[in-house]
Amino acid sequence: MNKKFVKRLVIISNRLPFVLERSSSGWKIHHGSGGLVTALAPVLRNRGGLWIGWPGTHEIADIDSAVDQAARTEGYSMIPVQLSKDEIRNYYEGFSNEVVWPLFHDLQSYCNFDPSYWELYKAINKRFANITAKNTTAEDYIWVHDYHLMTVAQELRYLGIKSKIGFYLHIPFPPLDIFLKLPWRSEILRALLDYDLIGFQTLRDRRNFIQCARALIKNVRTSGKGQVLTLSIGKRELRVGYFPISIDYEEFNIAARSKDVADEAWYIHEDLPHIQIILGIDRLDYTKGILQRIKAFRNTLERYPELCRKMTLVQVVVPSRRNIPMYNDLKIEIDRLVSEVNGTFTMSGWVPIHYIYRALSRRELLAYYRTAEIALITPLKDGMNLVAKEFCAANIEEDGVLILSEFAGAVAQLQRGAIIVNPHDIEEVSAAIYQAYSMSKEEKRDRMRKMRQIVKRQNIFWWVNSYLDAGIAGNLDNFPPMEEHISFHR
Ligand code: G6P
Repeated sequence: MNKKFVKRLVIISNRLPFVLERSSSGWKIHHGSGGLVTALAPVLRNRGGLWIGWPGTHEIADIDSAVDQAARTEGYSMIPVQLSKDEIRNYYEGFSNEVVWPLFHDLQSYCNFDPSYWELYKAINKRFANITAKNTTAEDYIWVHDYHLMTVAQELRYLGIKSKIGFYLHIPFPPLDIFLKLPWRSEILRALLDYDLIGFQTLRDRRNFIQCARALIKNVRTSGKGQVLTLSIGKRELRVGYFPISIDYEEFNIAARSKDVADEAWYIHEDLPHIQIILGIDRLDYTKGILQRIKAFRNTLERYPELCRKMTLVQVVVPSRRNIPMYNDLKIEIDRLVSEVNGTFTMSGWVPIHYIYRALSRRELLAYYRTAEIALITPLKDGMNLVAKEFCAANIEEDGVLILSEFAGAVAQLQRGAIIVNPHDIEEVSAAIYQAYSMSKEEKRDRMRKMRQIVKRQNIFWWVNSYLDAGIAGNLDNFPPMEEHISFHR
């Protein structure tokens, strides 16, 4: 861990790092296993940290004791921010997921700019700020996460809080022409400028943000060069940088070698003998390009009929945000398209698409990563996409091919090894599938090695350290530019 980092760390995010499930004997706690939790937990434990967030339910009976129990097991403090049903509807589903989420993913026609959503968004951000103010001191480093909480720093400043406050945006930041559609564009931008460090996933996101700041606010200047810049407005200065989030590479690399995983992988392939598996794994979301991907796979079977019986698409969709109508509609559309493709192409002994609509256990997930010959990761837009990195880390045989959208943040780091595609170009994706299918062993290994090396080096611990260094260090000498420019020449 970063030696220079001596303050207590306070994490603020929409969700606490666990999922609660009601059982007959009370709450069942499922601890978070995502990259963010893995990376932050040791820092919080060692420094006596605190995590503030929503416990993921509107039910409040016994919630405090459930949170206390989770905190005791994790070894750091947690404070719940409670939300009523109505608040969940307007702040979480409404403003966060029907306004910011689609807009920041360049899908402005999906936005529902309901003014009452904005009021509640501000009110809930204020609630997070009040709870934070009560439970922190000026010595703490406060690190706020993601698009649900963009106005927390502003509320904390109103309360007179002087601590350093950082923000990290896990999703993309949109280009100016799209951001301008937001009715509350100036309010949000100004509120963001109350943070001391704003971290983005990629250079592209940071560039978009700076362009929006220049267009909407007078006298914005930037100085410096490299991964972290200084942005000034009059006398006020803050830092803006890009820090591509990652995974715990070693954990995936080691777990993928376990006997359990190897056995599960063997069963998967035994059921699909002599068939190459193309794997798609996504949360149910219209940003993930699932429909376009299935259409591209259909196009592959039409254009290269010799691949019938030789290739199966395993598409895993993890249920998500089902109370939001767009998500529900998407689910219906995916079900329909999968059955249409299967209805058209299935032959005795071969079904083109295996469709799994549920979360996979860790063992299953790793087994699919190990077994799949090809990962097809084609979001229309994505902050990073950790599935791409997990596939590489778990590909211990170094024989998998990654087909990756040029609109996933991960492309900046993985472009030397992946086959890069425009997810809207169904014919290009289908040609990429054919290229992956017929790629030589040597080329596969060469490409996969390059990707594994970078995921290993720029792992989740590197991410936490570099963000906190930039948030706390006095000078920015340690942040030369990272290679980032994505080539569109093909
Ligand atoms: C994205 C967001 C996260 C969010 C996650 C799951 O990755 O960046 O902040 O937690 O999706 O979505 P949910 O709405 O279930 O929290």
